[in-house]
Amino acid sequence: MASKPSLTHQATLMLLFLTWRGGIYCNGFTVDPPENLVILDPGHFGHLEITWTPPASLINRAECPKLYQLEYFNAYKGSWTVIRTSRRSYSAQFDLMKDVRVRVYTLLNGPCTNNTMIKSTNYTEVVQKPSSTGVAGITVKDFVCVFHNMEKMVCNWGRNPKIPANSQQNLYFWHRELEQAEECPKYILSGGVRSGCDFTGKALPDFTDINFCINGSSPQGPLKPTYASLQIQNHVKPGTAEKLHLQTGPDTRLEVQWERPVGSVPGQCLEWEVEYSQEGPDGKMTSQQIFTEEMNLTLPLNDDYRRSCVRVRSKLHKYCVNKGLWSEWSHPACHPATSTSPHESR
Ligand SMILES: *[C@@H]1O[C@H](CO)[C@@H](O)[C@H](O)[C@H]1NC(C)=O
Ligand SMILES: *[C@@H]1O[C@H](CO)[C@@H](O)[C@H](O)[C@H]1NC(C)=O
Ligand SMILES: *[C@@H]1O[C@H](CO)[C@@H](O)[C@H](O)[C@H]1NC(C)=O
Repeated sequence: MASKPSLTHQATLMLLFLTWRGGIYCNGFTVDPPENLVILDPGHFGHLEITWTPPASLINRAECPKLYQLEYFNAYKGSWTVIRTSRRSYSAQFDLMKDVRVRVYTLLNGPCTNNTMIKSTNYTEVVQKPSSTGVAGITVKDFVCVFHNMEKMVCNWGRNPKIPANSQQNLYFWHRELEQAEECPKYILSGGVRSGCDFTGKALPDFTDINFCINGSSPQGPLKPTYASLQIQNHVKPGTAEKLHLQTGPDTRLEVQWERPVGSVPGQCLEWEVEYSQEGPDGKMTSQQIFTEEMNLTLPLNDDYRRSCVRVRSKLHKYCVNKGLWSEWSHPACHPATSTSPHESR
């Protein structure tokens, strides 16, 4: 309670300060927010086109250079994105399963405002709710895409147990190079129902959003669509390393070499995890992980150990992509090559 009067007092001071600043710097100029803010959905699963017009009070004032400040809620990042543009349209990616919120302000400069930049105090806003069509509460779970060795893109989704029997699900996708959304080229079936899409032979561009929509029909009506958006370079799972080779070097060292998987994964983008496991004299296994960007490594070899084994796996490192997936582990290579431990021999 005690802080209440002081807060009010502060607010009054702030108001006075703003008015004073307005008087000094803005010379009392004001400008109206833009009009006719419209969000257009061309059916690209979240890639929306936003358009607006200048405020009517400025239509015939060509001498006033206009800029617009567009703010939209980026549901992927959970924060507002702010851009300034002199154009009257802008395209951005939205998550259609969440509210789409867009605000636009007018900014004015030049002789009209005595060369001071002013911004409309108010904004024009559109809030668009997610489409409510479809059997409620039934969206696809666990939509996961993997770009195997940068050759074969496969997306899978989990079956929602609430989905009505005899439903048919469809996957559509769109990216910048397509005029219209296309349907999955080859569905993956599990237990007779669609559970994924195999894009083999269908080239998808990297470093640009690929938007997906999984919708469908059921005896109870259309299924609620699920939307997803991703960039394929962040879903690369390299092939398995090949020709893993061990050699004992001088001074009881183990020299390890391997080759990267054949294919189009750029070698300079790979980082490797090497797992070095050793079986002690008492049969106890110990292992350590080593990370490297080289395709060879020298490891210390302790003769007291019965056996030492190495296996490797790789992923694209963060200098090349935002996110990489680990490859499968290679077959292990061991020294000595054949097991001498009694419980492992058959
Ligand atoms: C315009 O700004 C200049 C200083 O930048 C000031 O001297 C002048 O009085 C202003 N004119 C008007 C009409 O406010
Ligand atoms: C700002 O605009 C909203 C509608 O877009 C309106 O409800 C509100 O009264 C406006 N505020 C001012 C200060 O003009
Ligand atoms: C699924 O989406 C596609 C592409 O937008 C559309 O052509 C199709 O009619 C939709 N199917 C259903 C069952 O809603």
